[in-house]
Amino acid sequence: MAKGKKQFVCSNCGAVYLAWQGKCQQCEQWNTLSEVSAPTGAVSGAAKLSPRPLKSASEKTPERVSTAISEFDLALGGGIVPGSVLLLGGDPGVGKSTLALSVALALAHTGQRVLYVCAEESPAQVMLRAERLALPGAEKLFVVAEPTLENLTAHLELEAYDLVILDSIQSIRSAEIASAAGSVAQVSYCASVLQQLTKRRHISLLMIGHVTKEGSLAGPKTLEHLVDVVLYLEGERFGQFRLLRSSKNRFGRSGETGLFEMGESGLRSVSNPSGALLEPVHDTPGSAVTVTLEGTRAMAVEIQVLTSISNFGYPRRSVSGLDLSRLQLLVAVVTKRLGMSLNTQDIYCNVIGGVRVQDPGVDLAVVAALASAFRNKPLKANTAFIGEVGLGGEVRAARGTGQRVAEAKRLGFDTIVTSRRSEAAAGLVSVESIQEAISAGVTAA
Ligand code: TYD
Ligand code: MG
Repeated sequence: MAKGKKQFVCSNCGAVYLAWQGKCQQCEQWNTLSEVSAPTGAVSGAAKLSPRPLKSASEKTPERVSTAISEFDLALGGGIVPGSVLLLGGDPGVGKSTLALSVALALAHTGQRVLYVCAEESPAQVMLRAERLALPGAEKLFVVAEPTLENLTAHLELEAYDLVILDSIQSIRSAEIASAAGSVAQVSYCASVLQQLTKRRHISLLMIGHVTKEGSLAGPKTLEHLVDVVLYLEGERFGQFRLLRSSKNRFGRSGETGLFEMGESGLRSVSNPSGALLEPVHDTPGSAVTVTLEGTRAMAVEIQVLTSISNFGYPRRSVSGLDLSRLQLLVAVVTKRLGMSLNTQDIYCNVIGGVRVQDPGVDLAVVAALASAFRNKPLKANTAFIGEVGLGGEVRAARGTGQRVAEAKRLGFDTIVTSRRSEAAAGLVSVESIQEAISAGVTAA
């Protein structure tokens, strides 16, 4: 690789400077700058540019490569675009290596040249995992345990691959950078060198990145702008389901999702999410069903709330699968608009299945579950709640209500409570306010 001019990179935030200075102006840390060579040498003299027409007859849009893992393809919008750079993030233990290895095996099995770089584990460990997955393709998949960037790039300059999987970007280290592997300076430098190399050599690159405790990828800004696709694997570590969500996609819609079930033999695609996520509905108080739209995917989920008298001055709010501040807002709306004194109650709220929902269209179901739990009365059987809730207690139309309603109907819900403002559909209970929704949805008994 051509060595360029010297640069100074902050090991804390990844900011780049042309001259050394004691304090990083971006993150205001002292003594964090270290010297590196710029990843590419500047072209000497006046390089001749030759811009081309945006669309030329000889060039076709690249075909996506299907991985045969249906939910992975869905989250990507149809498969991997050859030569693209993908980032797969998630908490430690959530199943990133398992998913990446499944993708590697599936593509190797179809005859693609795939290299799995396991910088964290030994090839023997990867082999053990592959045996658990029981997928074909292991005899065609290349594995190497190599944490040094320069050795990797030298190899990739010589060998042709269709896909390289890097497990993980935080365990790769360049000799050019003084800081330890996993530091922001190392991560952003290694990622940018690999991105340039793989783009030039037309290799698809899937980098795994561990999410830090703060919930962001190390060096998030430097990595997320660098790559074409950002995928997050979410879910409770000991829960059954994992949701793969694209938060950025240069080749398709972002926000698309794929659902997996973690089992004895790896991650299995769940093609009927509602069927998997919905437990048989019990008539217990505090349980409400809704249909969430994750990307363009409608999934029925059950929301459970438990309220109990608080013994402390500051009541407890515990939530899993939903945003805590959203729950607090809805609790305030219920307290004020329905006159329920939830401020004396501890509140526990769960989305069943361990899937994280990021969709305000489930508000009405949360409100219904809160009211049902507080009054200790079950909601009517076979009822689904679809809608956003405003601060005034008004029920607003959720995005894609039609699609959600269709999914609820498909699953056999006969009462669907939704906003009067949503596109009218026959057979729905349409309401203006949460008061109306609760009187329509809670059993009289
Ligand atoms: P892993 O892919 O190593 O997580 P990450 O790379 O995100 O850190 O997998 C983590 C968990 O998945 C591990 O606790 C064991 C579990 N697992 C299964 O339940 N079944 C399987 O077939 C495999 C391979 C893993
Ligand atoms: Mg791993």
